[in-house]
Amino acid sequence: MDLQALHEIAEKLVTPGKGILAADESTGTIKKRFDSIGIESTDVTRRDYREMLFRAEDAMRNYVSGVILYEETLYQNAADANATPLVDLIERTGAVPGIKVDKGTAPLAKFGDQPITEGLDGLGPRLDKDRERGARFAKWRAVVDIGDGIPAWGAIKANAHALARYAAICQAHDIVPIVEPEVLMDGAHGIERCDEVTRLTLNTVFEELFEQRVALEGMVLKPNMVVSGMKSGVVDAAESVAERTLAVLRDCVPASVPGIAFLSGGQDDEEATARLNAMNRMSPLPWKLTFSYGRALQHAPLTTWAGKRENVAAAQRAFAHRARMNGLASLGKWEGALEKAA
Ligand code: 13P
Repeated sequence: MDLQALHEIAEKLVTPGKGILAADESTGTIKKRFDSIGIESTDVTRRDYREMLFRAEDAMRNYVSGVILYEETLYQNAADANATPLVDLIERTGAVPGIKVDKGTAPLAKFGDQPITEGLDGLGPRLDKDRERGARFAKWRAVVDIGDGIPAWGAIKANAHALARYAAICQAHDIVPIVEPEVLMDGAHGIERCDEVTRLTLNTVFEELFEQRVALEGMVLKPNMVVSGMKSGVVDAAESVAERTLAVLRDCVPASVPGIAFLSGGQDDEEATARLNAMNRMSPLPWKLTFSYGRALQHAPLTTWAGKRENVAAAQRAFAHRARMNGLASLGKWEGALEKAA
């Protein structure tokens, strides 16, 4: 393992002013997104959509540090005459290609519907192959659901252990692990409950990372923000989300972690930007704080594109706008007026 090389990639992913584009929707998830704009999900439409994003020069060169890909995309080629690998398009913009390596969730045996993330078997050889194709970092998402009597401690522990095993295997194969423990915001719970569950989850994850000998300087954390559940009817102010989230992170995340790149998790586009911005205004912070957004970066370009060739340039501009807004938020320099001006 070359820890210095891992550290440099991790630092690059959290370059101030830039963040990560999460474009690693599984085939099932991207189908849902495509259903919402009324287009069929095929390997060709998925390729066309993602190629459009990676060819958005302004967004990619200036505001995107890395792109998380689904396995299909990592091995797909662009529609041009040379059949340029999509991964080469990404590299040319200066962004780092990454790969989602978890195999999604299944119910954890004896824990009802509580999920466990799968995909550890054969992970090492898969990482070697993905690295050969150009991937330099990976992502594994663990899911913690809040509800009546859940999450159970056993479910948190099992997911944290799997995350730590994944991270150790990544580092042993010279791939930077993005460690993503997502406490879902779907429930009707209040912000205090999210605070409590996120604390327990992060503390457990870092304990497991320590036990599995993961080098913290060679990883990036991808957590949820601390927010009220979507069904609670409460929309939290950016400053209260920022204060709560930072308090939890300061208590749970060692300073040797180079950076934290948040997931958007169903937050409204501008909300996700405003909250990241509010946190970066509360400096000094021990780690860099940026975005690793899927929906909050792609909602605007996806709906603008709507599957039509004539909309490509407008969709790329919509992507560049959201990327720039989030890039500014990573510096604490975003303002609501910039949204209206655009
Ligand atoms: P969202 O920003 O849409 O939550 O996606 C980020 C991600 O990678 C979830 O695993």
